[in-house]
Amino acid sequence: MARLLIASNRLPVTVHAADGALSVERSSGGLATGMKGPHERLGGLWIGWPGDLDGLDARQRAEVDRQLDALRLSPVQLSRDEIARYYEGYSNAVLWPLFHYETARLPPEVKDFDAYQAVNERFADAIAARHEPGDLVWIHDYQLMLVPQLLRDRIPDARIGFFLHIPFPSSEIFRILPDRERILEGLLGADLLGFHTATFVRHFASSALRLLGLPTDVDRIRLGAREVILGVFPMGVDAAQLGAVAASEKVQRLADETRAGAERLLVAIDRLDYTKGIPRRLLAFDALLRAHPELRGTIRLVQVAVPSRENVEAYAEYRAEVDALVGRIHGEYATPRWSPIHYLHRSLSQDEIVALYRAADAVLVTPLRDGMNLVAKEFVASRSDGDGVLVLSEFAGAAAELAEAVLVNPFDVERTAAALHRALDMPEEERRTRMAALRERVLGYDVHAWARAFVSRLERTRPSVPADL
Ligand code: G6P
Repeated sequence: MARLLIASNRLPVTVHAADGALSVERSSGGLATGMKGPHERLGGLWIGWPGDLDGLDARQRAEVDRQLDALRLSPVQLSRDEIARYYEGYSNAVLWPLFHYETARLPPEVKDFDAYQAVNERFADAIAARHEPGDLVWIHDYQLMLVPQLLRDRIPDARIGFFLHIPFPSSEIFRILPDRERILEGLLGADLLGFHTATFVRHFASSALRLLGLPTDVDRIRLGAREVILGVFPMGVDAAQLGAVAASEKVQRLADETRAGAERLLVAIDRLDYTKGIPRRLLAFDALLRAHPELRGTIRLVQVAVPSRENVEAYAEYRAEVDALVGRIHGEYATPRWSPIHYLHRSLSQDEIVALYRAADAVLVTPLRDGMNLVAKEFVASRSDGDGVLVLSEFAGAAAELAEAVLVNPFDVERTAAALHRALDMPEEERRTRMAALRERVLGYDVHAWARAFVSRLERTRPSVPADL
């Protein structure tokens, strides 16, 4: 089988250097969590950014290289200026809000495309340096959208796949981006472009038609002698691994401890990101407590908000908004013996997360816009007991597959509150019927099946012929 080179902005581990001490931790977010298993199974190399290494001395850097090498991870270092302009700037203050329809969060003037391009060049160089004939290259996500074409310039016959983990927006939104043609041309350097849903494929194809005048078949775009295949690959989770964790004695014990003292338990786990809809979810919980006073004193919402992109201004503002809302709801309903929300602003171990999934009556996944959302699938994979209710936003890619969830429009706070009540009130038989259908889908198409499907489709793309031949 061909060797696989994976490239993504962030490696599955992030190196932290605090007070001269070194620590290597699991990265958060769907991409790193999801691709970890396939990387371990498929062999090959993973090329990406290990985190800000500026505080490390030469000996510590050598130690980092040694540890990464043992994990088959190959670091691309970014300077402080590149982190500010390519990562925090163009990737996360321009592309991220735009692709999630948050146009009001765009800066008044879009800058830093040059830094984005320079780092994408560096990734292309790093991949080209490790590339051997016959390798498959799989590039991931919005931080690296120019890399497919930049790599094709360096290695014309390379077999290149690209997967977008976030939504591809409607062409009416995408066309707002000043460098929209460059981004499309960058992506079209790939042989295979993968998206989570058929809607995202459609949006990409209509952008290619309207902005580049490229006619599209349902699943391919012709570019002279080359053909770019467009595919739908809804990402899954490592269901067997999560099932094993969920069955462990330690997690069972943690779940029992979590339940103690609460008759009803709602759970939400997100990166602290404005796309995740935390304030509106809190308002729905607020409305639930207002409409159903009998729940006060007996129900608890555990909201875990994993710190993310803290140097990007919008994230700092968002944190303040969430903090204030949690405080307001507490002030209104808490008693000396009971508090309605357990709010955690930190990351948790996988055992702790799975214990929360197991302890929950319902898990709330209510993003305003999300490429897929793997928390929804992790929850389902953890519920081998067959119980529990998933409340899911219709604006998450996962909603296209998980129709047996209680689907909500997160912008409709009153109806979301009613859906929470419905989830809490649902008869056991209905809960089990829905969960059984969800589990069939989540277990049947796990992250390994997803990666296999993408890689085998990539293997079947005809080796690309340089356009001028
Ligand atoms: C999302 C993105 C990933 C990203 C992750 C965490 O899942 O699709 O590409 O890695 O968020 O964000 P960060 O900026 O910390 O890498």
